[in-house]
Amino acid sequence: MNSVTIRVPATSANLGPGFDSIGMALSKYVTLECQPAEQWSFSVAEKDQPYIPSDEKNLIYKTTLFTAYHYGIEELPPYHVSMVNDVPVARGLGSSSTAVVAGIELANALLHLELNKQDKLKIACKIEGHPDNVAPAILGGVVISSYTGEDLDYVRFTKGLKDLSFVTVIPSYHVETEKARLVLPDALNYKAAVLASGTANVLVAALAEQDWTVVGKMMKRDQWHQPYRRELIPDFPLVSKTFEENGSYGSYISGAGPTMIGLFPKLTPDQRKALIHQFPEHHVEVLTIDTKGLETAVHVDQ
Ligand code: HSE
Repeated sequence: MNSVTIRVPATSANLGPGFDSIGMALSKYVTLECQPAEQWSFSVAEKDQPYIPSDEKNLIYKTTLFTAYHYGIEELPPYHVSMVNDVPVARGLGSSSTAVVAGIELANALLHLELNKQDKLKIACKIEGHPDNVAPAILGGVVISSYTGEDLDYVRFTKGLKDLSFVTVIPSYHVETEKARLVLPDALNYKAAVLASGTANVLVAALAEQDWTVVGKMMKRDQWHQPYRRELIPDFPLVSKTFEENGSYGSYISGAGPTMIGLFPKLTPDQRKALIHQFPEHHVEVLTIDTKGLETAVHVDQ
């Protein structure tokens, strides 16, 4: 049996008004080293142990099994999976999507399923319910997707994104997506929905034209989720103001939060340092776009 290395990028969903349909892959990763073993097990770093089970409750394992069943296979060859996780759990950087994508890819590699990107994406959407995180985790770049529950279509952007810096402010508190979805209204009136959708449309057009000023403006104008989630992320107004005072194009709550991201022109090392110092109470990283998405290496053992 072969050993397998799988790397999945963190993702940031919504980009403001692209609720449940837009996401981007960032330069922060989960890496799995998978070796044939006597039984299934996971080694998880101490910091993650309260949140990531190391037994068969592990989301990667559950997804690997789900994928196997999906293709009519009932047993998995046992592996030991060693996880190096740089994607913080429950902070709005797609940690559960990294696990889902890694699990699908693990099944693909162990069972020789030969899945293409669309196959992987469809299984991931079935599990996650929406494509905004899983699509860029698989494909890299910024991905705009439409998922009906059956049909899945997407457009991927990469142009110009390497010229940007994403200042990522990660609070120490967790926000569970499920709870962050409960604060959203059950319905939006027609006029409000038309306005919110116009904002998302302009965001997408501005991404296509690499008009970062308009991208930033639309991020802030979101009416789908950010106005409701501010109560869960009390730091957002101040962080957003600090971003603005330091030359951002705009900022938004990443996914369901609490991470907040400021969109900047490419920052110099000095500018990065200065910005990081602006947020002494949070963990701050200056990230770049990941355009590769999911990467896998299979090592054929002798
Ligand atoms: N679009 C999702 C949300 C991202 O904002 O709830 C988290 O899964």
